[in-house]
Amino acid sequence: MTLVASLPETAKSRGRIAPAKLAHIVLRTQPDRIGILAGWYKSVLEAEAMCETDRLAFLTYDQEHHRVAIIGIPGLKDHEDGHVGLHHVAFTYGGLGDLVHTYERLKELDITPEFTINHGPTTSMYYFDPDKNQVELQVDNVPEEKFAEYFENGEFAANPIGITYDPDDLAARYHAGVPEEELLKRPDGVAPDISEFPSN
Ligand SMILES: [Fe+2]
Repeated sequence: MTLVASLPETAKSRGRIAPAKLAHIVLRTQPDRIGILAGWYKSVLEAEAMCETDRLAFLTYDQEHHRVAIIGIPGLKDHEDGHVGLHHVAFTYGGLGDLVHTYERLKELDITPEFTINHGPTTSMYYFDPDKNQVELQVDNVPEEKFAEYFENGEFAANPIGITYDPDDLAARYHAGVPEEELLKRPDGVAPDISEFPSN
């Protein structure tokens, strides 16, 4: 594995013109499933519809006009496992408290993660939407200015998958007042076999 000693320079600092931001994701589904998908993303992301018709839904949770869009296309086949393409999309929360709150809020709605991993750089929860698109909710374990330092310390190179954890235990320890720095630290352990995880 090759790891750089520091984060690559941004395209901007290299004098290049690159996108200003990652704008949105668009999912296609069967037209009669738009409402189901839109409802799930509204619940999970605390999103609202900017526009919702029987053909599409534009959803946002911030200043963007759409972060997630869902379009209905007649005749689509169901999701099939084992194809190349997009694996998952990830949303980062502002802190562990927000992630724990979201986990607990969604659990009340019977929306639970399929698996949870502390990757080292992030604490992550992986959900499947009703069409089996995989959505990661995460929080960064180290502050941005320490990303490079983290990747140099050897933990990630030794195990780039991470260690699974129990989200209820994480939430309980968070509420008990265990310091975030401690909760976000990747526990010792053996990397799980990634083939054991449900896949989309
Ligand atoms: Fe990810």
